[in-house]
Amino acid sequence: MDVRKAVIPVAGLGTRFLPATKAIPKEMLTIVDRPTIQYIVEEVVASGIEQIIFVTSEGKSAIENHFDYNYELDHVLKEKNKTLLGKELDMISNLIDIVSVRQKKPLGLGHAIWTARHIVGAEPFMVCLGDDLVSSEVPCAWQMLELFREVGESIVAVQRVPPNQTFQYGIVEGIENDRERTHRVKRMVEKPAPGTTDSDLAIIGRYILMPDIFEILSGTTPGHGGEIQLTDALLALSMKRKMYAYEFEGTRFDAGDKFGYLQAIVAYALRHDELAEPFKEHLREVVKTL
Ligand code: UTP
Repeated sequence: MDVRKAVIPVAGLGTRFLPATKAIPKEMLTIVDRPTIQYIVEEVVASGIEQIIFVTSEGKSAIENHFDYNYELDHVLKEKNKTLLGKELDMISNLIDIVSVRQKKPLGLGHAIWTARHIVGAEPFMVCLGDDLVSSEVPCAWQMLELFREVGESIVAVQRVPPNQTFQYGIVEGIENDRERTHRVKRMVEKPAPGTTDSDLAIIGRYILMPDIFEILSGTTPGHGGEIQLTDALLALSMKRKMYAYEFEGTRFDAGDKFGYLQAIVAYALRHDELAEPFKEHLREVVKTL
């Protein structure tokens, strides 16, 4: 069965980025010339997904508005002959079919995904975290969908991290697979205490999940941090049926974290058509002063 839908949870509180995120969703913070969430939606669209399901919460309507048609703005831009800008806004509102569901309390990522169960239904689906950016030649979601067509089972995207950082991630212990960059998941642990795992395969914010995950999430009790953790449900799913960890090609940025956000701005500015050259020049000048 094909993957047609992508769930994008954007209901988190964004506490790591306060006070910036007090009134503005972290997913709407700008990376060069567009909000973080737009890069993620564009990645999903470029990968052939047909529908996006945003899991939102109170105070996140700016995200839905960003992808909606704004009649007044369109009218003013036309009057002022700013047709190019108008076209770009049109493009954003016509990108893809988007629906939203409300997560009433921020009970964790597992709970956020569970909230989308009625709209996803009984089919495999993609999950992309609303603050995780992947810069790559071939969109990360596309790479994963290609693997899914071969294996027809759940996939988590992973990247290798230094051993002293494993405690910050969900970590996969896997068995090497014949296919390049692909591992069979053996075990999974959320934020392992230092020295308790030999693996350096850290889960990032891209998943393809079989719909069985919903039933598992229904019975998952709050884990680490009092939240319904996705990793706990993934572990249960991986024991029920095969699951793969895929080392995607590209660079991932945690744009929900201040340092990750700064790294993303530099990386995306350096690949921007108009800004790359002047920005490089500026960076060279800055480096001289360090
Ligand atoms: P994060 O853990 O990065 O989000 O979740 P957070 O809770 O907003 O972050 P901090 O730690 O307080 O800064 C990854 C993604 O999952 C969503 C977030 O919006 C983010 O896009 N999320 C998280 C939900 O939708 N609901 C939740 O209950 C938690």
